[in-house]
Amino acid sequence: MSVTSVAIVLILFWLVAGFVFMSIEVNECQGMEREFAMNQMVMVDIRFLIRRDMPEVLEIEQQFSDPWTEDDFTASLMIRNVIGVVAEAKGLVLGYMIYELHKREFRVVSIAVYPQMHRLGIATQLIDKLAGKLNENAREKILLTVRESNLAGQLFFKRMGFRCVAITHGDYDDTNDAAYHFEYLITALEKTTGTSRISKFV
Ligand SMILES: CC(C)(COP(=O)(O)OP(=O)(O)OC[C@H]1O[C@@H](n2cnc3c(N)ncnc32)[C@H](O)[C@@H]1OP(=O)(O)O)[C@@H](O)C(=O)NCCC(=O)NCCS
Repeated sequence: MSVTSVAIVLILFWLVAGFVFMSIEVNECQGMEREFAMNQMVMVDIRFLIRRDMPEVLEIEQQFSDPWTEDDFTASLMIRNVIGVVAEAKGLVLGYMIYELHKREFRVVSIAVYPQMHRLGIATQLIDKLAGKLNENAREKILLTVRESNLAGQLFFKRMGFRCVAITHGDYDDTNDAAYHFEYLITALEKTTGTSRISKFV
């Protein structure tokens, strides 16, 4: 076989493989759109993250910049005060949250929702569930940081009743982004009671 024929075969293979890969991706997205009525709130079950969830959690994570690896998740979840939860509907993991337990507060380390499922109330339910664990006599606030460039994240937490209480610089190795420190106090829970979109369901 001549060099030209080999090159043509390789190009054809590359085109066919690319087409098959794209079809799989499109089918997955269409699958989600078929499963859920888009533009309507999706009610999720929130349960502890288990090892079997890792492929789906990693798939969500890889949709965003600077994703955690499986090793990052494993190392984090092995720490005694770190909890992982997933938001699941119809057997699909649509979002996850990792948080730390401290004496007087919860600290959210990471929260993310599959991009096709954004703006359907999934992260709201994850945060509402955590806020429901706040107690004046024990953990009375939720803390977290959001990158300066992550406007969607800031708007989400503002909507949830968090306040930006400090801005620091030099927290990230990969960018010059400032870190916005957000805080949610148990009193915010009372203020937002009745306005939470899921309060009518629980
Ligand atoms: C931030 C994030 C978790 C929000 O998840 P979500 O499930 O889409 O959020 P919800 O649907 O519960 O949003 C609740 C409200 O927050 C606000 N909000 C959420 N995303 C927003 C956006 N992109 N732009 C403006 N407001 C937004 C809106 O007020 C929204 O209510 P509405 O849809 O009725 O207007 C999601 O965008 C995400 O996974 N981002 C990537 C990871 C990340 O940035 N995590 C945060 C830092 S760790």
